[in-house]
Amino acid sequence: MAPATALERCATGITGLDNILEGGIPRGNMVLVSGSVGTGKTTLCLEFLVRGAERGERSLFLSVTESSTKLIQNLSTFEFFRRDLVDQGSLVFVDLPAVYDRLGLGKEELSSEEVDILIRTISDLVRSLGVKRLVLDSLTSVCYRFRKDEQIRDFMLRLGQELSDVRCTSLLVSEIGPNPARYSLHGVEEAIVDGVILLWNTRRFGDIVRVVQVVKMRGTAHSRAQYVLDLTSIGILMAPHLKGGREGGV
Ligand SMILES: Nc1ncnc2c1ncn2[C@@H]1O[C@H](COP(=O)(O)OP(=O)(O)O)[C@@H](O)[C@H]1O
Ligand SMILES: [Mg+2]
Repeated sequence: MAPATALERCATGITGLDNILEGGIPRGNMVLVSGSVGTGKTTLCLEFLVRGAERGERSLFLSVTESSTKLIQNLSTFEFFRRDLVDQGSLVFVDLPAVYDRLGLGKEELSSEEVDILIRTISDLVRSLGVKRLVLDSLTSVCYRFRKDEQIRDFMLRLGQELSDVRCTSLLVSEIGPNPARYSLHGVEEAIVDGVILLWNTRRFGDIVRVVQVVKMRGTAHSRAQYVLDLTSIGILMAPHLKGGREGGV
């Protein structure tokens, strides 16, 4: 039998996560980061980009919900954030609403042709800048403008293919409620992606703690255990989740 080939990994730079993921996300894969508000999705994604930019991999944050100016302001409260990475162009922020305006995609719902234009624009941006790490915050906001599940499927499959062709690893943020029945708004998204990282809040002895779990990661024999996620100034720390107190999403 031929020996198994190890996949090239894109280290997230978050030690706890890389330990679970045999070194990182398989390079070129598309991963859903799913959770309710305040669970740390944006912070995790930003740290992934900062750590990448530090390693010389150009990183792109596509922002839909928050303006990049505000994001950078909030980020400045974290010690792990390095403004110089933005100034030297290794860490790039693009506001998707501005891109919609520039392309004339102003309507509530996008037609198939407009979805085409959007995919091509993102792909051109990634290719021309040589982007190796991409975050879309959030996929949910982009999907609000699609009429049918087929459009979501088409958008994700084609974007996934474009990104994997240039070995760009991506995190797509999925906004869900506190006690969700699935990991995404439509349920289509989680079936298409190569991985799902789930974040949620839970109560432990009266405190609310953030918990993270890798639910799916293609090409990886990963732990599915729950870990407490601590957002600290120097970055995300993870520790085994010792159960106790009342459980349940909050
Ligand atoms: N400098 C900081 N140090 C530690 N935690 C912070 C800091 N700035 C913000 N936070 C925490 O991050 C939370 C926001 O997390 P965020 O990643 O935006 O969540 P989500 O994107 O899932 O809504 C805030 O509610 C706060 O608890
Ligand atoms: Mg967020």
